[in-house]
Amino acid sequence: MERTYEKEVISMVKIVRYFLLFFISNLIYSESIESGKTVIANESMVVTRHYLASKVGNEVLLAGGNAIDASVAISFALSVVLPQASPIGGGGFMVIHEAETGENFTIDYREMAPEKATEDMFVVNGEVDRSLALESYLSSGVPGTVYGLYLAHQKFGKLPWKELIKPAIKLAIDGFDITPTLAKSINTYKDKLSKTDDGKDIFFRNGEPLMAGDLLVQKDLGETLTLISKKGPAGFYKGSTAQKIQRDMRLNGGLIGLKDLRNYKAKYREPIEFDYKDLSIVTMAPPSSGGLILGLMFNMLEHIDLNTSNPHDIENIHKIAEIMQIAFSIRSVYMADSDFYDVPSNQFLNKKKAELLSRRINRDQSSTAEDFDPETFKFKENTTHYSVADKFGNIVSTTTTLNTAFGSGIVIKDTGILMNNEMDDFSAAPNQPNYFGLLGAYANRIEPNKRPLSSMTPTIVFHKDKPYMVTGAQGGSRIITAVLQVILNYYEFKLSAEEAIYLPRYHHQWQPEMLMFESFDEELKEELLNKGYSLYNRPATYDFSNGITSSIMFEGDKLIGVSDNRSDDFLSIGTNKNE
Ligand code: GLY
Repeated sequence: MERTYEKEVISMVKIVRYFLLFFISNLIYSESIESGKTVIANESMVVTRHYLASKVGNEVLLAGGNAIDASVAISFALSVVLPQASPIGGGGFMVIHEAETGENFTIDYREMAPEKATEDMFVVNGEVDRSLALESYLSSGVPGTVYGLYLAHQKFGKLPWKELIKPAIKLAIDGFDITPTLAKSINTYKDKLSKTDDGKDIFFRNGEPLMAGDLLVQKDLGETLTLISKKGPAGFYKGSTAQKIQRDMRLNGGLIGLKDLRNYKAKYREPIEFDYKDLSIVTMAPPSSGGLILGLMFNMLEHIDLNTSNPHDIENIHKIAEIMQIAFSIRSVYMADSDFYDVPSNQFLNKKKAELLSRRINRDQSSTAEDFDPETFKFKENTTHYSVADKFGNIVSTTTTLNTAFGSGIVIKDTGILMNNEMDDFSAAPNQPNYFGLLGAYANRIEPNKRPLSSMTPTIVFHKDKPYMVTGAQGGSRIITAVLQVILNYYEFKLSAEEAIYLPRYHHQWQPEMLMFESFDEELKEELLNKGYSLYNRPATYDFSNGITSSIMFEGDKLIGVSDNRSDDFLSIGTNKNE
């Protein structure tokens, strides 16, 4: 009893302190706000996939919160306004740069397989049953977002936890106008969203999918968020929310139970840090494959001469595509949750190894998949990314996901929680590709309490110890190559911040044997065909594309927020200090 009273007093003091801070900071200097797709500011920057989430993040910064507070508020807001990738039913990775100590941290809040999961749970008559893996109650891992955000807030947060969830609760209960992009997604995935009664109640009216301009109200989600705001992770992993999840799972053949929820843990992981020329790149460790694959690709790139005057020079594309193939072939065998499998991280980041691998690049023609048989190397959508930089110098790079759009499509009864279908990121059977066409093997097989391998690559880049770029993307396997190209476009090819994001991207993941490109001119396509490439067009639009990014570049004392041109709902918001 006394402890509860004590907690209330502490929380009141925090609230008063936060309003005082806000008031005093406004007295000392005035601030002006810039918002748009590409924005320049001198104090802080928020870039997210949804303009309402960007506004929530910016308001937290204006109220004296730091980049971590803003990121927590953004994630909860995205759970409401971006149901395609709703963080609370899924998981993610967060990379944090703490200004005060100069240290970097990463938090892994990837989903975990339930205790009763088995290696062959999706195999029916020798084949992987795609709908079981992607659109059933079995498709979900135990969500990690609430735990992960709480962990970040406990260590770094300045504003009260409750205050950070308040905007999301309001958006859920009052509703918000559906944008054309969201309307299109709801319509595309209407079958999946109408599988549960709750999904039908939320996303349909009179049996028809909600349309642009309709109000999306999510009362149950508002109540679930209210419990989380009052009780912290216990509002999700214990008590009535946990019981509702267990009940719905039991009734419908799912595996997640009270014990799985109670045992879920998000954790700090050692960041992956490597240098490329005079850049230092900080990114995510396994169960992300992104950080190590990025490191391996950059280490091989150190042995390549690029034509820096033209990013789309045929020789640049060819050599980089070969590097992508080598890296992705290795990904298929040597990567998994490092709590279960001894990922040879040192080998991935070994400069000598990369130099040897780079010799396997065929200088003239595209290699075939057999040329890069990973066993010979002897190596021991729908996701969303947001970037935040605050006025104190803290930086947060977060990627979060349900896996494919709207996850499994299943809304847990009476909670408003849309569940992930992250179990598909495991290798359900050797040599049978997942949704992203990625092959996997023994290391990434399904095991109880294990996290599936991910491609999410939230990244912070430093140049001579100063922040240089925050980036990351959505787009499954194409995330990693998008991050690679954004960094190369800006650093090697000296494109402007906006051009570095907008330039059409390409992607090769070894298998399938094809170079996926957004847009190349006819002559370049001809040259690539002559080199033996199979080309596959993924236009740079919201539905296809080779990744959609949210990035911040640092130039002198300016922050440049760039929202990707491949989607409409994005917004960058910057704050200027006017002294
Ligand atoms: N679910 C996509 C990824 O994590 O790579």
